[in-house]
Amino acid sequence: MTVQPVPADAVPTSDFTSPDDVARAFAEHGYIADRRLATTTFVMSRLAKPLLLEGPAGVGKTELAKTLAAATGRRLLRLQCYEGQDETKALYEWDYGKQLLYTQILRDKAAELLEDTSTLADAVDRIAGADSAFFNERFLAPRPLLEAVRSEEPVVLLVDEVDRADEALEAVLLEMLAEYQVSVPEIGTFVAKAPPYVVLTSNNTRDLSAALKRRCLHLFLEYPDADRELEILRSKQTGLDDAAAQRLVEIVRGLRGLDLRKAPSISETIDWARTLAVLGVSELDAGVLGDTVSVVAKYERDVQRSREALPRLVDPNATVPESLGHGHDHAHGHPHSHGAHTHGGHSHDHDHDHEDDGRRARAAKDRPGRHDENYYGQQAPTESGTPAPPRQVRAGQGARSFAPNRGGGTRRRPV
Ligand SMILES: Nc1ncnc2c1ncn2[C@@H]1O[C@H](COP(=O)(O)OP(=O)(O)OP(=O)(O)O)[C@@H](O)[C@H]1O
Ligand SMILES: [Mg+2]
Repeated sequence: MTVQPVPADAVPTSDFTSPDDVARAFAEHGYIADRRLATTTFVMSRLAKPLLLEGPAGVGKTELAKTLAAATGRRLLRLQCYEGQDETKALYEWDYGKQLLYTQILRDKAAELLEDTSTLADAVDRIAGADSAFFNERFLAPRPLLEAVRSEEPVVLLVDEVDRADEALEAVLLEMLAEYQVSVPEIGTFVAKAPPYVVLTSNNTRDLSAALKRRCLHLFLEYPDADRELEILRSKQTGLDDAAAQRLVEIVRGLRGLDLRKAPSISETIDWARTLAVLGVSELDAGVLGDTVSVVAKYERDVQRSREALPRLVDPNATVPESLGHGHDHAHGHPHSHGAHTHGGHSHDHDHDHEDDGRRARAAKDRPGRHDENYYGQQAPTESGTPAPPRQVRAGQGARSFAPNRGGGTRRRPV
């Protein structure tokens, strides 16, 4: 067994001198980090501990890993996790094609090797003796985890959307995360010459194991505050003038406070700003925002709710005309009374309840560790108008979905 030596001085060298240095380096690469994020990244670089980023879609989790690679000049290796993924896609595979090719070419040599054997058992034993010729590094096809530890230069390893992977794969990750090493039974243990920076991201579609969490520094990425979101918008040079961008940020924050199935993310704010800039808009009014709101609201119900709320978000003193406030057709099934603003006894989200609801929803979103089935928005009422029962999420991922009550097959696409 060939075992690569563990470097005695495998003490990480940090690429950063301070959290401020992280923030500066990230800003140079277009990523606006707040103090908490910069500090955690700095600590991660100093301790060489993996960093687990959790939070809703589009808040910059993946982008952070990319920026870390760009800012440190390291190569980025990415393991994109998905359901049913097995370790051969994460660690390594044997290159059967190459092994077969070599066997064909070496047919005569193999015959020579077996010449003096008389029984099948002898021949098998002889071939087995030559195993190591075929199970060595030459025939190893490294996947991101092995690649990260074998790399001569330190890398950034992004394990993206780890919550989508099965628990079995999570277990495979543990050795790597704790020791920065990968064992290949036929060869030995590969140990990273220089510890990689490992960033794991999760949208919390299922709970990750305590063992995995324990090995990582942990950071919840939330929607940014208004100042930082504006700074991000500025850095993206969307073409929208500054005053309008500022208003837009406030309006998006208002939308996030609504009871939406999928709250608008930073990337959607950027897209909306670009859309408005392309349309030559500089004065944000409910009309143009309503016409373009599908850039940020990705479900019909969310579009309707956003359009209803926009006049009030644009001008808190506005009296909302009936036609704007209820611009949706009534063909989609849930009976509601305009007078009482109830949905089959489930009263939420219409008109004068809005502001209150918005505040409550935002407060709920501010609670740490509140990733339940409503994390990506409230469940829609069923056709009968009654609220849908909570989704049962089992430990396995078969039932994982971003659509809590619309069938288990819907999976979110990376932004
Ligand atoms: N702090 C930030 N500074 C600059 N841009 C940002 C920041 N956060 C997010 N963005 C922008 O938002 C986009 C989406 O971010 P990213 O893809 O990293 O989201 P994510 O959290 O990985 O989402 P998902 O969970 O859907 O994969 C980025 O491409 C980037 O343009
Ligand atoms: Mg991502």
